[in-house]
Amino acid sequence: MSQCCINPSILSADFVNLEAELQRISNADAVHVDVMDNHFVPNLTLGLPVVQRIQAVSPIPLDAHLMISDADRWAPAYADAGVASVTFHAEAAMAPVKLARELRARGSKAGMALRPATPVEPFLDMLSELDMLLIMTVEPGFGGQSFLDITLPKIRRARAAIEGSGIGVAIQVDGGITEETIVRAAEAGANVFVAGSAVYGHEDPAVAIDLLRAAGQAAAASTKA
Ligand code: DX5
Ligand code: ZN
Repeated sequence: MSQCCINPSILSADFVNLEAELQRISNADAVHVDVMDNHFVPNLTLGLPVVQRIQAVSPIPLDAHLMISDADRWAPAYADAGVASVTFHAEAAMAPVKLARELRARGSKAGMALRPATPVEPFLDMLSELDMLLIMTVEPGFGGQSFLDITLPKIRRARAAIEGSGIGVAIQVDGGITEETIVRAAEAGANVFVAGSAVYGHEDPAVAIDLLRAAGQAAAASTKA
């Protein structure tokens, strides 16, 4: 399995001081940027102009999580902005294969997200079109929710399918990730971890990132042994 990545979510950061907040997580693998349109999810955050500015000043690559309707129409512009990884929701895309190909053609990694109750099975044949599968471990829309253990079997099934096919798709989990829940998610097969409140709720976000990475790596190593 590939490397364990920690991607802090700036949803829990101070939005008035984003540049300084990005510097506090410079030891992370990427910064997770939650784009919400108050339509696909009942919350509103930020859009392309702000993402472009974050892209310009961030010391680490961007991992954009688009919780927006009509992803086919809006997602490609995030790839054009230079975002390293663009994730759209399967539930919001009319033509997910076409969209994933378009993101890759524009130089971005292609990610696809599934809400907790969306099964992975209908999408197994298109995993080779993706660089990352995001399995939501809370209902998307808000930070600070509790990790849903009901998503663990889906993570296991996705990991088994990926290993079985020999394709290199990362499995990201997002929502309720702490030093405790990261162990269960890593054991189930996730290898990219988003954490908002666990990172920015810590007095030193960089320390929180190191603690999460150590916990995730230890869990992945014990699973392989
Ligand atoms: C929720 C967002 C998450 C959120 C995670 O819809 O997609 O990225 O920021 O926050 P925590 O880690 O606090 O659950
Ligand atoms: Zn997210």
